[in-house]
This record gives sequence, C-alpha cells and structure tokens, in this order.
Amino acid sequence: MEKKIRVLVAKPGLDGHDRGALVIAQALRDEGMEVVYTGLRQTPAQIVNAAIQEDVDCIGLSCLSGAHNELFPEVVRLLRERQADDILVIGGGVIPQEDIPFLESAGIAKVFTPGSPTKDIAAFIRQRVQPKSVNVTKPPKKIAHIGIAVHSIEAALPFYCRVLGLKLLGCEEVAGEQVKIAFLEIGESRLELLEPLGPDSPVARFLTKRGEGIHHIALEVDDLEQRLSSLKENGVSLLNDTPREGAHQAQIAFLHPKQAGGVLFELCQHPGKVRRAGADE
Ligand code: CO
Repeated sequence: MEKKIRVLVAKPGLDGHDRGALVIAQALRDEGMEVVYTGLRQTPAQIVNAAIQEDVDCIGLSCLSGAHNELFPEVVRLLRERQADDILVIGGGVIPQEDIPFLESAGIAKVFTPGSPTKDIAAFIRQRVQPKSVNVTKPPKKIAHIGIAVHSIEAALPFYCRVLGLKLLGCEEVAGEQVKIAFLEIGESRLELLEPLGPDSPVARFLTKRGEGIHHIALEVDDLEQRLSSLKENGVSLLNDTPREGAHQAQIAFLHPKQAGGVLFELCQHPGKVRRAGADE
C-alpha cells in the first residue's frame, strides 16, 4: 500500500480567521492525504516543531494578516536549522502578486492565491512529495558493507573476531566524516565498525540519539554519479547530491532515510582494482 502523504496546515501570526485553511485541510483529506491542523496564531517555531513531531511531508502556510514576508521565510529558515528542509513548504492566503517572487526565492515552493483550485494544490504536493517510480536500469551489485556504530572499536572487536571469527582487514580514519572505521571481511561483503573521532561526527550524533547498533547499509554500484542525478531528477531526497570520498578511496553518497522507513542507505562505488606495483599485466 502506498504511504499516505502527510500535510501540516498551519496559521502563523495573528490573524483570527481560519475558514480558508479549514477548507484546504478538508480538500486535501478528500484527496487522500493525512492532514494535521495547528490551529490559529502559531509562531514559526511552533509550526516547525509540530511538522517534525508529526513527521509531515509538506507544510501549507496560510496567512491573512499581511505578515507573510516575515513569517513564511522564518519557517523555512527554522526547518533548515533543524535539518528538516526536505519538508516541502507552500503558502496561501491574502498574498499580493508582487510578493510571490520574493517568497519563492526564500524557499516557499509555491504560493497559491485565493481561488486556486484545491485539485491543483493537491496535484502540486503529490508531484513534489511522492518520488516517481525511478527508472533505474539495474539494481546495485551487492551489499558492499553494513556500518555499525560503536563507542569504541577496541572494545567491540573481540566479539567480531573471537565470537564470530571474522578477519580484521584493517582500520582507517576518514577525516571528512570524523570517523574511524574497522573493516571485517565476510564473504564478498564487509562489516564496518564506526567509531566517532569527535562530538561533531555524524556517528557521534547517532550514538547519542539511538545508541550503538546498525548505522547504515551500503550498496555497491558502478554508476554512482549518473545514478545520483537520475534519483535527484526523480525527486528522491538525498543527503549528498554529489559523490564524496569515503574509506578505501570509494566514492559514496547517502540517501535520505525518511523514504526508506528510517534505514540509512549508502551508495558506494569503489575504484577499479588497483594493480600492485610490479605485478604482471
Ligand atoms: Co559506509
């Protein structure tokens, strides 16, 4: 079954009329979306909190008080600050035509003026939120590795080496990600133990939030750059638009876990096998 699109309809600012907002909320429900309504007189911070808590795909802001030029961009700014800017923001209400270019440049995806058919609003949300089926020509080649977050590689290794009997291939520090990685060979794949090198490391944040455990699954591909641009074109949200350097000189990029039921997937491409110096051709 397809996941329902979740929309937060929000009334920022001081105006006291929500008939229009309620009409939109009902219309989007009729279109099969799940709609949460914040009620009147919300601050941008309250709206962003509610959007994150309710895990919505889209925020529809409605403002009649004339303060849209301050309130709407503030919502977008706070979403960015909370790293939730994958949430689509649209606006409506009494908005003069001449303010629309400013609002759109401030990150409001689209402004609907009074009289816009609710079908159009629903179609716009659907088109922007639901990834179209992506035409990927071939599946990834294999599971390259499973990344496991640990507080200390040294403390974790005895289980992997002595209990599971896996072979430690080596350790490497990836400065860009502030992480130290231990590679354990398992058939064609690997387990990677990830230890944060500092409090700003994404792995440190993961450990604080969720504790030790599986952090990500990495899928091997051989067309990373093209694949990323095709995913992006198809509206799939990515944590990295372009490849970045991972361990073993691999090029890597992460997909946003939101669309994968909370699982963080990495796509990685390893450079062609490096010949050892002096080895026969
Ligand atoms: Co990885």
